[in-house]
Amino acid sequence: MTTPSTIAIDGPAASGKSTLGRRLADSLGYLFFDTGVMYRAVTWLALQRGVAISDESAVTALAEGTPIDVAPASRADGRACDVIIEGRDITWETRLPEVEANVSAVSAYAGVRRALSAQQRRIGQRGKVVMVGRDIGTVVLPEADLKIYLDASAEERARRRFDETRARGSETQLDEILSKVQERDHIDSTRAVAPLRAADDAVLLDSDSLSADEVFARVMELCGK
Ligand code: CDP
Repeated sequence: MTTPSTIAIDGPAASGKSTLGRRLADSLGYLFFDTGVMYRAVTWLALQRGVAISDESAVTALAEGTPIDVAPASRADGRACDVIIEGRDITWETRLPEVEANVSAVSAYAGVRRALSAQQRRIGQRGKVVMVGRDIGTVVLPEADLKIYLDASAEERARRRFDETRARGSETQLDEILSKVQERDHIDSTRAVAPLRAADDAVLLDSDSLSADEVFARVMELCGK
């Protein structure tokens, strides 16, 4: 069996996609590309420029007109990659609560998706890539060699986000995180363009019943390793 060259991992927020994707890319010597950071970067830019999130054409113009560089991590501070806009490193800014609160609204805009998925597709088509997102197997790379859909209950995902947020030293409430996760799931899966769903040929994995190590082992098996 030949090792798949393009691997798509989709699923809802905090289902473990990034952990799995990073580990898989490291083991295979592939590029890890978390597409969510691009939607976060456009959201950050809109907030930074004072563009109203509800102004679809202005937000779309930002996505179309601003190159976003996603590069391998230049620092060992826990980041998966660098996110650079106009020469500025905004990697940690993309994780701010105000970005988190608005990113699903921004990523529902058709023009924003068109601009960002075209860039993602170009990178994906080069191969030797593990690409993580919501619509990689369905829209960005429907021809991917291996498609994984990683799911988990909203409660389990909220608990993980809660632990991550606290580990970074921020004050937070579990029930608040749960309602934000549920709200984002709702927007992501009911939007008109490229809604979150498993591709028909995706392998479904549920990380409620599998540990991170078990998920990884299962995917390595699917890669013939
Ligand atoms: O890390 P987390 O799963 O919370 O979020 P993310 O993967 O960074 O994605 C943030 C948001 O960007 C998601 O809630 C989606 O609204 C959007 N997104 C998308 O629409 N399509 C993608 N391929 C990736 C992210």
